[in-house]
Amino acid sequence: MRRPIVVGNWKMHGSRAENARLIEELGGHYPRNPAADCVICPPLVYVQEIGRLLRDTPIRLGAQDVCADTHGAFTGEVSAAMLKDVGCEYTIVGHSERRLLYRESDQLVARKFAAAHSKGLIPILCVGEQLSERDSGRTAEVVSRQLDAVLELCGVETLGQSVVAYEPVWAIGTGRTATPEQAQEVHAAIRARIGARDAKIAGATRILYGGSVKASNAAELFSMADVDGGLIGGASLKADEFLAILKAAG
Ligand code: PGA
Repeated sequence: MRRPIVVGNWKMHGSRAENARLIEELGGHYPRNPAADCVICPPLVYVQEIGRLLRDTPIRLGAQDVCADTHGAFTGEVSAAMLKDVGCEYTIVGHSERRLLYRESDQLVARKFAAAHSKGLIPILCVGEQLSERDSGRTAEVVSRQLDAVLELCGVETLGQSVVAYEPVWAIGTGRTATPEQAQEVHAAIRARIGARDAKIAGATRILYGGSVKASNAAELFSMADVDGGLIGGASLKADEFLAILKAAG
């Protein structure tokens, strides 16, 4: 059985005051023995403080990105060891905003994945196609290519200790969610791709759906056989929405 997991990606939102309010609202209503894992990925500058605020909750801490290199002259970058040092257990890698806005290649994302894994952080690997790619029937090809870059550099064993998030780019922040059937189709393809290398690992890998998940559509998406939870952007900034999504995952 794969334990469901819900990850909140705050992106570049929040302030110390807003964060404290949101954590208080979440913590006050958070179930004692949640049936799903929960991770919050705040902006980097707030990670340590959020870690302190989350101390008495079952919510875990994650980062939104990580440097592919371990240390040295990389101005502006933060290493996996540093994230681990301040309490992160997870990090997102290859979010489509990083791939598209900051031109991160499949190979760079794979190196980030490797860096995170080597320091004991659980990578949350994002994959997903753009609208033009879906419209031209290339969804499977794009997602496979993104996945293969990691499989080839890091090996299938590392996948078993990570999380994959399928996020169709056309569904992110647009209010246009993939249908549960569209999500399931790609999730099954991702699992089959991993399964071609190792069926047991494929069966254990948690695959999240991301892209305009909200309280009103979460349960339907999470009911699909290969959808093991969600990567939540906008709705993770509203305590009531996020708590309802968590409940749907459990
Ligand atoms: P969204 O973002 O939920 O706001 O669509 C999801 C994501 O980018 O992870």
